[in-house]
Amino acid sequence: MADKKFELTDLSSGKKTDLPVRSGTIGPDIIDVASINKDHGVFTFDPGFGVTAATESKITYIDGDAGVLLHRGYPIEQLAEKSSFMEVAYLLLNGELPDAAGLSGFTDSIRHHTMINESLLRFFNGFHHNAHPMAMVSAVVASMSAFYHDSMDINNPRHREIFAHRIIAKIPTIAAAAHKHSLGQPFVYPRNDLDYCANMLNMFYAVPCERYEVDPVAAQALDLLFILHADHEQNASTSTVRLAGSTGANPYAAISAGVAALWGPAHGGANEAVLAMLEQIGTVDNIPKYLAMAKDKSSHFRLMGFGHRVYKNFDPRAKIIRAACHKVLARLGRTDNPLFELALRLEEIALKDEYFVQRKLYPNVDFYSGVIYSALGIPRSMFTVMFAIARTVGWVAHWQEMISDPAMRIGRPRQLYTGSIQRDYVSVDKR
Ligand code: CMC
Repeated sequence: MADKKFELTDLSSGKKTDLPVRSGTIGPDIIDVASINKDHGVFTFDPGFGVTAATESKITYIDGDAGVLLHRGYPIEQLAEKSSFMEVAYLLLNGELPDAAGLSGFTDSIRHHTMINESLLRFFNGFHHNAHPMAMVSAVVASMSAFYHDSMDINNPRHREIFAHRIIAKIPTIAAAAHKHSLGQPFVYPRNDLDYCANMLNMFYAVPCERYEVDPVAAQALDLLFILHADHEQNASTSTVRLAGSTGANPYAAISAGVAALWGPAHGGANEAVLAMLEQIGTVDNIPKYLAMAKDKSSHFRLMGFGHRVYKNFDPRAKIIRAACHKVLARLGRTDNPLFELALRLEEIALKDEYFVQRKLYPNVDFYSGVIYSALGIPRSMFTVMFAIARTVGWVAHWQEMISDPAMRIGRPRQLYTGSIQRDYVSVDKR
């Protein structure tokens, strides 16, 4: 088949350029516009990156119209049903599912990197007890760059691997320390005899004065949520990690930038905002009032947990979490859950509303996740931290893919300048 091309014509000069078209393994073709500045002296304008591919990637694929999400080719539904978070982490990082020895070697390595430096732990004392945990996590992850700077050569594949295992292993420890700091309770050290999620729950809930047994139902529910949040191709936080990392910055600092980007309510902060919104709505009778507010362009209120830049159909992760809510609440004996009932009714009513239908606004991953986190006893302010723990895997996989690509260049967008043209400086006494 002949190579596909797009023709770009400058209608004022009549000058034409053939733009090469690149095809991925699946998904829409991409027009390569790299030559248009050289040929025509122009740039492209796409605020919010609505139609711009910033990179080539082999990690995750989304078909937003069909509601499809694949990690390294495997559908999210199959991974959610059959895999584990550690296995998905291995898959995202290495490109293939591990064999038994590969999985146990990987899991073992993560288990043995869970402790954090005692000095790093003391950083938490500098935060006020009511500091938002995302602020603490972002700051402490950034501080890790001070502990692992000289020993980190980003061009050394083994150093990159050690970094990957360290940050994936330590992020639950950092999150738990932030949680314990908020409560004023003593920090609980990681236990390497427990698996990833059980260890995290133990660090969250154990106290020195009582025995604590991790509920396997809770650990399993968390493992599922972590699988569903592990990666989502070039979302805002992943793109932030790539952009920061593209300068050659210390990768812990780049991950911290990702945590900061995730915190916003338009991104990972939505899970916290959904619960706040459901509590604000309170009862089914109030739903029409809040839907009217969400549709009113003069109000800043949006239906949190609804809508997505890429999905113009059900977010497949939301479907899985909604089904899991029923199961997890039943297994935890919490079937009477008014917020979940309210969320179900809100979804039902919104999906029949012309405004949401026309704009293809469906529940996204954050709509139901808070229901499960709440049932597990995780406070609302920690919801986005949970997301960050899981997404660390995706951030690291993308950072690794970018740094190991010999064609990597610094990320540096252009702009349409609309400010003042050149003018002469006027001294202060003459202004
Ligand atoms: N409630 C009310 N109206 C909405 C909503 C919403 N949640 N989302 C989009 N719209 C409207 C928006 O006002 C616009 O209407 P119009 O065409 O009349 O101007 C139209 O739908 C298109 O929206 P957009 O803002 O251009 O879409 P976007 O792709 O720039 O933003 C989004 C995507 C996720 C930021 C947005 O849908 C949103 O703010 N949703 C609520 C926050 C949320 O749930 N975020 C989590 C996203 S998924 C997980 C993650 O990324 O972490």
